[in-house]
Amino acid sequence: MRLSQKALGIQPSSTLAITSRAKELKSQGEDLVSFGAGEPDFSTPDHIVQAARAAMERGETRYTPVSGIKKLRAAVAAELAAEPNQVVISCGAKHALYNAFQVLLDPGDEVLIPKPYWVSYPEQVALAGGKSVFVDCREDLRSDAAAWERAVTPKTRGLVLNSPSNPSGVVYSREQLAAIAEVAQRHDLFIISDEIYQALTYDGLEALSLVKLFPQLRERTVVINGVSKKYAMTGWRIGWAVAPPEIAKAMGSLQSQSTSNPTSFAQWGALAALEGSQDPVEQMRLEFEVRRDLICRLTDGISALSYIKPQGAFYLFVDISPLLGKNYGQTVIEDADTFAALLLDRAKVATVPGGGFGMPNHLRLSYATSREQIQKGLSRIGEFVVQLEG
Ligand SMILES: Cc1ncc(COP(=O)(O)O)c(C=O)c1O
Repeated sequence: MRLSQKALGIQPSSTLAITSRAKELKSQGEDLVSFGAGEPDFSTPDHIVQAARAAMERGETRYTPVSGIKKLRAAVAAELAAEPNQVVISCGAKHALYNAFQVLLDPGDEVLIPKPYWVSYPEQVALAGGKSVFVDCREDLRSDAAAWERAVTPKTRGLVLNSPSNPSGVVYSREQLAAIAEVAQRHDLFIISDEIYQALTYDGLEALSLVKLFPQLRERTVVINGVSKKYAMTGWRIGWAVAPPEIAKAMGSLQSQSTSNPTSFAQWGALAALEGSQDPVEQMRLEFEVRRDLICRLTDGISALSYIKPQGAFYLFVDISPLLGKNYGQTVIEDADTFAALLLDRAKVATVPGGGFGMPNHLRLSYATSREQIQKGLSRIGEFVVQLEG
């Protein structure tokens, strides 16, 4: 049977591919260290699980309104001083992003995406018929306003911001955001602000939502967020968009013809997450910060590797340029793909190569894993690197 051009063009998520390969090797009994995961290794806090269980038991097992239960939409809206009719609850932030691109793009419309970028943005833009235009970053992995400006063409419709960033952990300052926002305003572009890692910042830094920082951007901004990373709820599949009402309405209509509402009792769990104690979030954040410091210190001990210190999320984006062109036996390390494949095969360490994030000289290490695993993994990487020749 013939597949559509659209289906043939889709690249499966490289991050999910490596995570599932790592899980498979582990299940075969391999002593594997995985830095692949894009999810917290903590369990969902108990009060959230209890709330979902209680919802199920009291019969919250039917369709809900397509855009989500009233209370959850209200709680999400309240966080951004928005109205509930601006909120669409979806099956994860990924789904919310998908809906947004579908309702905002016509074929040929261009979207600016800063490098390094999360793997799904270009694929989702393409699925909506749009074209991704990548904005180069400086050495500090941030893109300045001049670079954004250079990328604008008459076809540009919008831009994507992701701070704190996956894969770099970079957090944009208020001034940097203001400069990018100014470009968006001058060219009348929509902004998709993916704030899924907002709760995970370090060094006393706070990542404020774009529309809270600059209320004048509300009319052009779709804020994306959800419970996956903040509350260790990746499997629950609850995320949302907060958008101008007409955009939210269109996203709701699209959702009404695709998934309908996200799972009813998962929404009640998400409500408990937002309304309940935030202590577990702080505990997880503190542990991530300790791990961030640990993984940075251990990477400092491997002279061929360098990085920009992440200030948010749970990833270290490592530059492996000095290793390119070196040999392991007969294999030449041409890019991070080759290096990651060798690391997995020979050193039993799973990482994600940077090609999918637009930077093939980099490797993403997720530190959403225990301190012991971080120690073990980095010592394996160090031992492997010294075996390279040339
Ligand atoms: C930058 C970014 N946005 C969105 C998502 C999607 O999160 P969710 O699990 O809510 O779909 C992820 C997940 O890895 C992410 O890294």
